[in-house]
Amino acid sequence: MSGSNAEKGLPRYDRDYLLSPAKRNQIVDLWEVENFGRDSFGDPDAVALYGMGPAEWHAAGVRILARTLLEAVRDPLGNRIGADVARIAAMAPAASGFGVVDCFAGSCNGLYSILRHLPDATGIGFEFEPAIFEMSSRNLASLGAPIELFNGDFRTLLDARRVPPGRRVVAFLAPPWGDALSREKGLDLSRTKPPIAEIIADFERVYADRPVLYVVEVHERLVPEPLTALQASFDWSELTIYDLAGPTGRHGVLLGTRRWNR
Ligand SMILES: C[S@@+](CC[C@H](N)C(=O)[O-])C[C@H]1O[C@@H](n2cnc3c(N)ncnc32)[C@H](O)[C@@H]1O
Repeated sequence: MSGSNAEKGLPRYDRDYLLSPAKRNQIVDLWEVENFGRDSFGDPDAVALYGMGPAEWHAAGVRILARTLLEAVRDPLGNRIGADVARIAAMAPAASGFGVVDCFAGSCNGLYSILRHLPDATGIGFEFEPAIFEMSSRNLASLGAPIELFNGDFRTLLDARRVPPGRRVVAFLAPPWGDALSREKGLDLSRTKPPIAEIIADFERVYADRPVLYVVEVHERLVPEPLTALQASFDWSELTIYDLAGPTGRHGVLLGTRRWNR
């Protein structure tokens, strides 16, 4: 299909429509993915996932839900995050590999992108919404991705499903922002769901004696106090905002390490 949605009498593929109760858990057709890309980014191929444009991933058997159009880390952002993680990983002392953990796995494309940039890395994802878990599990199987995805709340799974011993831990933290992102103040990292410091405390309990690289997805505008407190809790940290425009502003990462240079 070509031409705008308005010309064809279709709804605008915006946040309200895609997250509406009737639409959110529906599988979207390829033309809808392209319409969303056109409406939101002026580019029908904007929803690049798993290293492929929409037509290619659709042909490979990948299917996504309407809400995933909004929630997924798309390839341009995932690749930037992956490259930064790889840069820090390469500075670590000789290690026997990496285990990347995503507690908010969704489509798993954020996790998949990081894995594509790291040598000898495997992934563990947690996802508590059954509809997303099932869809992503099927997609990962058709891609042959080195990711184990578990259904449930990360707080109950983190301890039971650990990174194998000897591997360095990379913790990708991209929890739902909800009302932690406000137009006036930007993103408050102490109000994500759950707050970033609480998630880090959960990791520190499970991986108390392991080197951990925390990778926190952030917005270009950040409430200063929670950011400063988080930076102070790391042995080393680096904040990067990527030059990639999105409907809600530019995103980036706060990288922070604990025990990484051992
Ligand atoms: C913003 S999306 C993450 C998108 C993901 N980074 C991607 O690339 O597709 C957040 C996901 O976390 C899931 N989630 C939220 N809280 C969770 C929790 N406590 N445990 C496990 N999954 C959770 C939601 O169902 C949602 O799919």
